[in-house]
Amino acid sequence: MSETTSISLSQDAKNAEAVALDAARIQQALASGRFGNPLHYFREIGSTNSHARELAEAGAAEGMVVVAESQSQGRGRLGRRWESPAFTNLYLSILLRPKLAPAHAAQITLMAAVALADAVEVYVPGQVAIKWPNDILIGKKKLAGILTEASCDPERIHHVILGIGINLNYTSDAMPEDLRRRATSLLEITGKPVHRESFLQALLQGIERCYGELEQAGFAALAQRWQAYFAWRGRRVRVKLLDQVTIGTAKGIDPDGALVLIDDYGSEQRILAGDVIPLET
Ligand code: BTN
Repeated sequence: MSETTSISLSQDAKNAEAVALDAARIQQALASGRFGNPLHYFREIGSTNSHARELAEAGAAEGMVVVAESQSQGRGRLGRRWESPAFTNLYLSILLRPKLAPAHAAQITLMAAVALADAVEVYVPGQVAIKWPNDILIGKKKLAGILTEASCDPERIHHVILGIGINLNYTSDAMPEDLRRRATSLLEITGKPVHRESFLQALLQGIERCYGELEQAGFAALAQRWQAYFAWRGRRVRVKLLDQVTIGTAKGIDPDGALVLIDDYGSEQRILAGDVIPLET
């Protein structure tokens, strides 16, 4: 791992050089805001979330961003791997130090899902949906995911690492076979390559704006925007976590970010973690 903008490059990287992110330019564009100063840029890293956590534990300030062109150990939710090919998509982590009760830490993920959906919506108007808790879907396929990792004690949150992976220019040919069935990219949907730097800049500005709204006005307004993107509102869904399965009609989210279902007995069930799938098409 080396943090740099001028290292010796492999042939692949040389080919991609023309489309590498320009960290200095991004940082300059974000200079008047709270996010991206500093912005640590890597050609390759294990995981931006892991590195951001190390920096957070060493005392880094809120707003620090770690971006990498590729990850060798990109991590998804529930211990899954996040495919992170070089110079193709975006992989980033933002350090936050929110003044929220630990029970409300999930609001950070939901806030980021709204900002991410807004950023994607510009490219594919009317086609973006959020799958609880934090997947961004186009149709039935996943375009982006969020991995939020918090360090808390019972009274307060020390830090939150907001990790985001977005498939921008990933072609389905380049995806591993099992991923091809479940994942998509903006290039696959629109047929047009996405300028990753512009996307990253707009996304960081959007998250900063939504985070400011959360701090100033609380979660209610963001929750409404989240619900407007919610993929399966009113649909019968099945939620699975390890051996436990819950079935019900999806109602929305509560202030703790829990998924609220109405079960077959008419009772509300709050789901805090798991994988959701719709039961009928
Ligand atoms: C998911 O949907 O499972 C969450 C995926 C999150 C992937 C991103 S890529 C940048 C950051 N670093 C990681 O190792 N993971 C997150």
